[in-house]
Amino acid sequence: MSARLGAGLTFLDWMQQTQASTESALDAMLPQVTEVPSVLHEAMRYTALDGGKRIRPLLVFAAGDLFNAPALLLQRAAAAVEMIHVYSLVHDDMPCMDDDALRRGKPTVHVKYDEATALLVGDALQAQAFTVLADTAGVEDPARQLKMVQLLAQASGSTGMCGGQAIDLASVGMTLSLAELEQMHRLKTGALLRAATLLGAYSGKLLTATEAAALESYAAAIGLAFQVVDDILDATADSATLGKTAGKDAADNKPTYVSILGLNESQALAEKLRGDAHAALAQFGDNARRLRELADLIVQRKA
Ligand code: IPE
Ligand code: IPE
Ligand code: MG
Ligand code: MG
Ligand code: MG
Repeated sequence: MSARLGAGLTFLDWMQQTQASTESALDAMLPQVTEVPSVLHEAMRYTALDGGKRIRPLLVFAAGDLFNAPALLLQRAAAAVEMIHVYSLVHDDMPCMDDDALRRGKPTVHVKYDEATALLVGDALQAQAFTVLADTAGVEDPARQLKMVQLLAQASGSTGMCGGQAIDLASVGMTLSLAELEQMHRLKTGALLRAATLLGAYSGKLLTATEAAALESYAAAIGLAFQVVDDILDATADSATLGKTAGKDAADNKPTYVSILGLNESQALAEKLRGDAHAALAQFGDNARRLRELADLIVQRKA
């Protein structure tokens, strides 16, 4: 579905169409099982296909919608950011990290296959993300594409998602200050959500300083809100609903918004961030409708 073509759809229909479009993009952009090494490719497909809420691809498409980005570029950016996200989940679940057996309602990769396969699935998904994002077919502005590659690389690395994961693991059993907790959440989760938003926008055009500032503050709000809600759901929802093990943060002695602020204040913070996200989009009017709806989804989701 190309940007704006979906303008008449309800949010639910738009979401389902975008999820379906992401699924076919991933299916097409992941190596086939018939290609050697087939077990590695099977495991990559096992973890990346048919599961997850696809929030990052939805952000790519919603931000692309603002700037009439071509569907082909959005599909690539959406698949690339989802591949990085899935790789982060596969590694996050490994015994050396959170040691989790359930993800997206299925056994985790190291349980279904083995640890070495899980490690390589993550490595290979990361490389595949950049292979996809660096595809030049249909690209009109190579300098803008290079900026997008750099943006995703930075969001994934030691000053982005990996850095946040390192802080997370180093913080087990510790009481973090609110500022430290916020920094951890912004890196481990916020960085990729920011990248998804900006990749969608840059698929359409180079942003003016005002447009970039607005999207930056939107992304900062939803990026933090997403992990605040993840912490709340870990403490309040059940494993069947989440498709992953509930109650894991407390069991593992992780500092979270719930452990530091309590449930009520965490919920209030998520609500406040939803308001901040809406406010950041004021200059875009109705064209930012999908981004507003996604901020609502991120804060009000039940899984
Ligand atoms: C879970 O992300 C891990 C975090 C970054 C908090 P999601 O809640 O987006 O997981 P999926 O993609 O829907 O499985
Ligand atoms: C994970 O945070 C963030 C990632 C980079 C994967 P969590 O460890 O809280 O994610 P879940 O709860 O296992 O999905
Ligand atoms: Mg973790
Ligand atoms: Mg985890
Ligand atoms: Mg969690």
